[in-house]
Amino acid sequence: LTKDRYPVRRGEFAILNKEHLQFFTDLLGTQRVVTDPAECESYNIDWIRSVRGYSTCILKPKTTEEVSKILSFCNDHRIAVCPQGGNTGLVGGSVPVFDEVVLNTALMNQIYDINDTSGVLICQAGCVLENLDTALAERGLMMPLDLGAKGSCHLGGNVSTNAGGLRLLRYGNLHGSVLGLEAVKADGQIVDLLSTLKKDNTGFHLKHLFIGSEGALGIVTKIAIQCPAKPKAVNLAFLGLNSFENILKVLTQAKRDLGEVLASCEMIDESTLEVCTDNLKLKSPISNFPFYMLIETHGSNNEHDQEKLNGFLEDVMGNGLVLDGTVTNEPSKMKNIWDLRERITEGFIQDGYVFKYDVSLPIENFYSLVPEMRQRLANDEEVVRISGYGHLGDGNVHFQVSCRQFSQNILNKIEPFVYEFTSKLRGSISAEHGIGFRKPKYVHYSKSAESIVIMKQLKEMFDPNGILNPYKVIPN
Ligand code: FAD
Ligand code: MLT
Ligand code: ZN
Repeated sequence: LTKDRYPVRRGEFAILNKEHLQFFTDLLGTQRVVTDPAECESYNIDWIRSVRGYSTCILKPKTTEEVSKILSFCNDHRIAVCPQGGNTGLVGGSVPVFDEVVLNTALMNQIYDINDTSGVLICQAGCVLENLDTALAERGLMMPLDLGAKGSCHLGGNVSTNAGGLRLLRYGNLHGSVLGLEAVKADGQIVDLLSTLKKDNTGFHLKHLFIGSEGALGIVTKIAIQCPAKPKAVNLAFLGLNSFENILKVLTQAKRDLGEVLASCEMIDESTLEVCTDNLKLKSPISNFPFYMLIETHGSNNEHDQEKLNGFLEDVMGNGLVLDGTVTNEPSKMKNIWDLRERITEGFIQDGYVFKYDVSLPIENFYSLVPEMRQRLANDEEVVRISGYGHLGDGNVHFQVSCRQFSQNILNKIEPFVYEFTSKLRGSISAEHGIGFRKPKYVHYSKSAESIVIMKQLKEMFDPNGILNPYKVIPN
């Protein structure tokens, strides 16, 4: 599959032999070195089943020291390594391309400390996001980020992709909330950047190099993250609208009227919602409209928040911007509504093959790719749907073209057009999912030649033998 779709040549890395495997089993024991082909399978295929690798060895370290020994050995023996967290990444970064050894962090799942006063959580990289949120909830805190993959993704994976998600609008991105981290370089050197301080201007801010670098510069092993108080009051509105123009007006008004309690502002178009209602048989609480918005508020006083939200809703419904809507603070109803948003990725899989794009655009152009592409692919019968949804409040749209099965013809019509289009509008060709295996050759649409040279120099400095996540992130 991969070889046909993405013509890349295997790098000059060692082929795994008995001596290599002996080293790994001496270090980790047989249980934590997976070589059974059937068991290796799921580590070789990505969540949306769009790429696959051929690794015959999955390593499951428990400690930083084990990660260090693995990398030092792999570096000395030129063995390529694919770092892997929950394997929910959407750009093919988390699975090997050829036979790279997979270093999976699932067993690095210790929570070291939760500080009730500062709100700082310190944990290992393999902790599952939802488990961290549950542990924090008992202490009146929550994770600053939330995403549909929360039940599987690891915090280390989130940090390595600088994951955005559903409440970035309110709580910011991981460059802001990660206070410190520990990482292991390709040669096995452990880099201790595990500060828990809010303010620390001692020299270069090196932690940022590991946030969002997708395992190309090192393996993140520990994280200290600033967690906000769990809001006492949460309210969620699900609204139906008839045009994108009105969506923009409602967004502007939500920011003004809801101010400090606004926590999330997401948008879904009609065709996207159908992957939940038709494919997954989920129920929408309102009838069909061309567009939908989810607006969530987080605050400390329910009466105050509801007064604000109700005032805002009366206004936008009174002036006809919103045609119908429902608002709730009941946890089960809120979950049903959030499922309509969070399960979209899963729903698309049932269409067949999904061409998926994650771009940032100026807010006025947020939806522009959809009509443009519908026109471009108007006569292509292979297409099931062309649709858009996403993090409206952050200007990050998820644009999809789904087909019954992979089609080179459709791919040629979408790429590089979609990236040229984004670049002309001075958008970003990767808003939150990263570059992974799918996009290195398109990085130049969003990064200057000079920045690409610096990326390559950093890679050379951190990983001179190129053993970490080869074929990914860095353009050739
Ligand atoms: P993986 O998929 O295992 O790996 C992702 C990348 O990071 C790979 O390049 C891998 O090599 C590297 N990596 C993993 N762990 C480490 C480590 N410890 N050290 C160094 N490198 C490492 N993303 C968003 O930004 N916002 C969303 O709203 C969002 N929603 C999603 C919803 C669904 C249903 C799904 C399936 C995915 C979604 N994603 C979203 C994408 C994905 O979940 C995120 O990118 C997530 O952060 C990946 O975490 P992971 O542990 O699964 O990492
Ligand atoms: C989302 O916001 O739902 C995600 O980023 C996942 C996706 O784009 O499929
Ligand atoms: Zn997203």
